[in-house]
Amino acid sequence: MKISVNAGTADKWSGDLLIIGILEGQLDNPLNLLEERFGKQSKDCFERNKFSGKKNESLTFHLLDRNPEKVICVGLGKPEELLLTDFQKAAALGARSSLGSAGKLGVLFPWDLFRTEEAAAAVAEAIRLSFFKDQRFRGKPDVQTTPDELVLLGISDSISPVLETINPICSGVELARELVGAPPNELTPAGLAQTATKIAQQFGLDLKVLEKEDCEKLGMGAYLAVSQGSDLAPKFIHLTYKSKSKPKRKLAIIGKGLTFDSGGYNLKVGASQIELMKFDMGGSAAALGAARAISELRPSDVEVHFIVAACENMINGSAVHPGDIIKASNGKTIEINNTDAEGRLTLADALVYACKLKPDSIVDLATLTGACVIALGDEIAGLWSNNDRLAQDLISSARNAGEEIWRMPMPNSYKDGLKSMFADLKNTGPRAGGSITAALFLEEFLEESTPWAHIDIAGTVWSDKDKGVNPAGATGYGVRTLVKWVTQQN
Ligand code: BES
Ligand code: MG
Ligand code: ZN
Repeated sequence: MKISVNAGTADKWSGDLLIIGILEGQLDNPLNLLEERFGKQSKDCFERNKFSGKKNESLTFHLLDRNPEKVICVGLGKPEELLLTDFQKAAALGARSSLGSAGKLGVLFPWDLFRTEEAAAAVAEAIRLSFFKDQRFRGKPDVQTTPDELVLLGISDSISPVLETINPICSGVELARELVGAPPNELTPAGLAQTATKIAQQFGLDLKVLEKEDCEKLGMGAYLAVSQGSDLAPKFIHLTYKSKSKPKRKLAIIGKGLTFDSGGYNLKVGASQIELMKFDMGGSAAALGAARAISELRPSDVEVHFIVAACENMINGSAVHPGDIIKASNGKTIEINNTDAEGRLTLADALVYACKLKPDSIVDLATLTGACVIALGDEIAGLWSNNDRLAQDLISSARNAGEEIWRMPMPNSYKDGLKSMFADLKNTGPRAGGSITAALFLEEFLEESTPWAHIDIAGTVWSDKDKGVNPAGATGYGVRTLVKWVTQQN
């Protein structure tokens, strides 16, 4: 999608469609503009339809023979309550109403309520992403017509550098959505490795894929235990982006990459949504989506390692028994008291591997616990960190990205829940506070001083309903936050 700015407002601009964001109770300016440009009928239309600018309100009028021929007004709500996400939701609502039309789409919002650059990027991203529809697995895809050019009105050229980040970021989010949306018979651990290979080839990154034997040599007993009940080989993926200029920061991003989680012998039964467990590689999708975006954006002074211990959690005669004791690559022994707490086992060895690279910070993303979904629902991810600065950076990156996140506590006393009678640790604590003990488990595999953050995306990876910017299905959560974090837009 071509994206540009135009310093003029809607009074002179001509294109095919126009979306105008209107604040609740502040109709005078937009109404005058519409009346001047399109005549009195527009004002009457507002009154007849009782449009007042509330959130989720929209009003479309068709102006035959005009240029634009369709104007879509969307409500932004009260200015004092306005968040960047409200801009995004309203933009997505407008974009949905524009479906079926091709051509040039103009958008006019009260940009100056935020930093113009941030507002413009957030709205443009929301519009492109709300057009995304995954039809790869339909025999006959619906034909969907969408505008192919976006013009942000009332904004000067000085924001061009930000404009250039929008398409690469959206391509990263869309890649993540496609990876998460692919069924487990299509997207296997080898498929994830193949995706990493494509990114490496397209953008000239370094890629190492460790096979099972390589992982055995490194003593990755926790990761390999999860994989041993599957017919598919594990693939440990390590993709590296390095800026041309000498890097001043070295970062590691780890994504949980379970291409299917059956639960193992603690099989997922009842309402545990086993049929959705293709999304259990959402962390790796975010990591690879971010890798794609970052390699296209080419930020300077930074080196980023993307790490995925990809495998499946399945059942066969060689699968882990509940009760097995295994050894991770840092020498710690783990009693597997629940085979369904498998993500943390794969992450344990990935964290040990990442620490050996001596990064300045490590962030992991994982669809780790159902408990996180109970705590925060499907719109907010959980954040745990041993470092306040890193946590704060991620919180502001997420805010800038329009992705919601909430920091959670890591009380030392909860570590007691992970004590094993036989081994150094067990992999599952009590049901209560389950997302916290999961984070505390991960912390056991860090070298102490490394700043680290863990983001539990079990809720945000998938949306049951169409929510505007996020159509129903895979959301691509995490890509935008990671890109803003790496490129220091926080
Ligand atoms: N992949 C699941 C977590 C999950 C559950 C994500 C529901 C999204 C929706 C993870 O591997 C898992 O099974 N966790 C268990 C942990 C428990 C056994 C301690 C869970 O949350 O039930
Ligand atoms: Mg599980
Ligand atoms: Zn899982």
